[in-house]
Amino acid sequence: MKSDTCDVLVIAGVGEIQELVLATAAALDLVAVVAVDLDVVAKLWNQVGTVCVAEDFAALTAAWALPRRGGVVLLGGSEVLLAKWSAPLDAKVIPLPAGALWLGSILDESAGKTGTPVLAVLGGSGGVGASTLAAGVALAAAKTGRQVALVDVDVVGGGIDLLLGVEHEEGWRWPSLASAEGYVGDLCEYLPKIAGVSVVSMARNSAEDLASEPLTAILHSLRRSHEVVVVDVGRSLSSACREAVRLATDHLMLVSPSIRGIAGARQVLRTFQLESATETTPSLNPAVVHLVLRGKGAAGFGATTLGETLGCPVIARLEDDPTVVAAAARGDLPWGRPRGGFRKTCSRLASALIEG
Ligand SMILES: Nc1ncnc2c1ncn2[C@@H]1O[C@H](COP(=O)(O)OP(=O)(O)OP(=O)(O)O)[C@@H](O)[C@H]1O
Ligand SMILES: [Mg+2]
Repeated sequence: MKSDTCDVLVIAGVGEIQELVLATAAALDLVAVVAVDLDVVAKLWNQVGTVCVAEDFAALTAAWALPRRGGVVLLGGSEVLLAKWSAPLDAKVIPLPAGALWLGSILDESAGKTGTPVLAVLGGSGGVGASTLAAGVALAAAKTGRQVALVDVDVVGGGIDLLLGVEHEEGWRWPSLASAEGYVGDLCEYLPKIAGVSVVSMARNSAEDLASEPLTAILHSLRRSHEVVVVDVGRSLSSACREAVRLATDHLMLVSPSIRGIAGARQVLRTFQLESATETTPSLNPAVVHLVLRGKGAAGFGATTLGETLGCPVIARLEDDPTVVAAAARGDLPWGRPRGGFRKTCSRLASALIEG
């Protein structure tokens, strides 16, 4: 067998786990091969994007003592077996049935078929300008000719379509997408679009919270069909917000450089378990959160102090730009004047995101 035709190695007997992995791989157009004997496994071990091991094959796989590698996933319903074999196999754990929906993203990422960055934009405090920044970075990325999606996850944020002036555009918003699960095809033609940005927005007439499953499914779909995805996470603590933060490849937090701004930002980092690894609570998400400072701030709250206090690097400073507010009031794109500070900063952040 030619190794370049195989994306996923499945070490599992006939049964639900094998079926789940094969179906998930097929939905993503990935080639999966089932193998339970050492010869085949050893041949493919270092050549596939992901190795999926069913819990009842974990002991056997560990006994083979194959070289350590990334991208091993251990799946099963027994907490005891998952805990026992995750370290010997150096494996990520997918507890079933709840974790079945993450499998697609793991297979997708490991196969390297989507390197699309997903930027989560967080506000360190309410009204600091996070939604405007998320929109600005998305617009700046689209200016480079890339396919960009902007996703609003803030149930109480008023709808990012309103911020972008596409509230009257036909197209799907979260209520139409909220039952999505698993694999979702290309959504491009169904979403409202402005200035090259496809928009997934909240609806103002819905009181429903957003669950994490549809968020996962939609983000994966957008990653496959776009080159940049920006998520306005908002400040609610819904499971969808947490999932967006977990799935993001990059994180920006806009912080007001004041005592309350810093206190709020610290709380947001804690809430989303994005604290730096130096904190006493170990971080679940090792991603680095880059800080953007909003406005000038009081003396003593410079970039260095703020970065040190929050344990995150400061990547940019976003000056107050009255033309952003004026544009928003007119119903124009919230993007300020052509060579204004807001646009320049958003372009710089978009470039950093695209270039990785
Ligand atoms: N760089 C900026 N310069 C001047 N005004 C800005 C800037 N960014 C945002 N604003 C203004 O600040 C207000 C709040 O912005 P925005 O809705 O983006 O904040 P937010 O952090 O998303 O708020 P929320 O906590 O409600 O989600 C808006 O009136 C917006 O036009
Ligand atoms: Mg907002």
